[in-house]
Amino acid sequence: MSVAPALEATYGEKIKARREHIKMDREAFAKALGMTADQVDSLEGGSADITLDQLTAIANTLGTSIAELTPDFVSDLDEGVCYQLPEDNPVIKGERAGTNYYTYNCLVRTRTMPKLVPLLLEVNVDDPEKAAFNAGHDAHEIIFCMEGDIHLKWGDSENPREVTLPQGSSFYIAPGVPHTLTTTKGSGPGKVISVNF
Ligand SMILES: [Fe+2]
Repeated sequence: MSVAPALEATYGEKIKARREHIKMDREAFAKALGMTADQVDSLEGGSADITLDQLTAIANTLGTSIAELTPDFVSDLDEGVCYQLPEDNPVIKGERAGTNYYTYNCLVRTRTMPKLVPLLLEVNVDDPEKAAFNAGHDAHEIIFCMEGDIHLKWGDSENPREVTLPQGSSFYIAPGVPHTLTTTKGSGPGKVISVNF
């Protein structure tokens, strides 16, 4: 994995900018937080560690949210492009019902589009009777069937909708819809490309 670029600013800089934006002086800010002016200086100068509880109290004092006090990331794109070599693809085992159900090969991602999560998914179970449902997820999902005969089940796990989709098929799953993939019975493992967004 490549090294993550630094943040665009420090928390201290963001806090100071917000304090000045609302015209609160350093002494009033220190008093509201039960700190000394020197402690505020080191906080805003970026030399003090801040806990999440402290950041919450600071956000409340400054009438804003933690999100607004969090520095933006530097883009990880090089002239609009980022890439990932095969040896850098993180591989995650997706156990379900005690079996090695899926293997997730995580493809390139960019922090400029954090909801966009592409995967090469290995479907390891070749028996629709052994399908193990998820509970659905927040993301929209598009899947392309790359290898093998994929068997999709979705909806109510007790009374599911289901379809067999040969290589070259593709499908969309809406957020919150429980679903699961196997391959057809005895056909061996399959592979799909899954794009979550
Ligand atoms: Fe999914």
